[in-house]
Amino acid sequence: MSITPSMRQLIQALPKAELHLHIEGSLEPELMFRLAKKNNVAIPYDTIEDVRRAYNFNNLQSFLDIYYAGANVLQTQDDFYDLTWAYIEKCRENNIVHTEIFFDPQTHTERGVPFSAVIGGIKAALDDARSQHGITSCIIMCFLRHLSEADAFATLEEALPYKDDIIGVGLDSSEVGNPPSKFAGVFKAAAAHGFKLVAHAGEEADFSYINEALDLLNIHRIDHGVQSIHSDALMLRLKDNQMPLTVCPNSNIELCVFDHYSEHNIKELLSYGLNVSVHSDDPAYFKGYMNQNFFNLCEHLPMTEEEVITLVKNGFRSAFIDDAAKAQYLAQVDAAAA
Ligand code: ADE
Ligand code: ZN
Repeated sequence: MSITPSMRQLIQALPKAELHLHIEGSLEPELMFRLAKKNNVAIPYDTIEDVRRAYNFNNLQSFLDIYYAGANVLQTQDDFYDLTWAYIEKCRENNIVHTEIFFDPQTHTERGVPFSAVIGGIKAALDDARSQHGITSCIIMCFLRHLSEADAFATLEEALPYKDDIIGVGLDSSEVGNPPSKFAGVFKAAAAHGFKLVAHAGEEADFSYINEALDLLNIHRIDHGVQSIHSDALMLRLKDNQMPLTVCPNSNIELCVFDHYSEHNIKELLSYGLNVSVHSDDPAYFKGYMNQNFFNLCEHLPMTEEEVITLVKNGFRSAFIDDAAKAQYLAQVDAAAA
């Protein structure tokens, strides 16, 4: 299948909301090399080509090992600013007008980088994005699920002075063997502090992790959630309450969640009536940003223009913004689609 010029134009023209983007996963090899040199950090690559060759994954863990190694080059507040600003330039190329970005504080505080440098750099770049380009944003702090709940509690404490800059908490990293139940206490505490709640669930692990995330973590959005298709009862539940699923097609292909793009289940999820939207996860590692996810979907699945527009609108419907802002963005989508 090939994507028609009019579909390509539509995807480019639609304003979009990014709801599932790990800022550390937007670290392009060029910036990785520059920061490695500046900060005197050893990386296991000689050339950019070496890096791209290493980005050949067979599951989530094989990616995470490389992703955490790459993050070591991020050391100062300026580094986090530069990382985030480079991502904002990608937002402009991809017509992303609202972005809700994840960061993994434990990946950095574990190495002695102060929490304040991480959040300070990200926040400053997002403030500039708003004032210079009108891009709206919020920040979601993820707990690393391969670490203990006690570590997550300590991270939550560390985040409290920055509570006004962090809209929510999430859960990411190695899924299988680290079920949502492990973090029920810290999610309850985060909710009591007023944080919104999201969690990666049903990316690689089976659908029971999605039920657990709903039952025990009381999340407002599911990140990935593609394994829900294996439970009729869960599908009905997700449809009934229009629970958002932030699906990341390129990621699912690169991490071998599906063997081939033509086997991706996004059309089934959508046609069943689930609130599915499309996002880019770790675009520097997964061969493309938001638009590339849509282009690939259209190349490999018989996506209609109506489906593309629905996926884009669902992104705004599921965003952590007020109803007036949602209505404004949805009107912009309608205008661009027309
Ligand atoms: N951290 C960064 N990307 C991730 C993914 N796709 N799944 C879980 N944790 C992640
Ligand atoms: Zn993710």
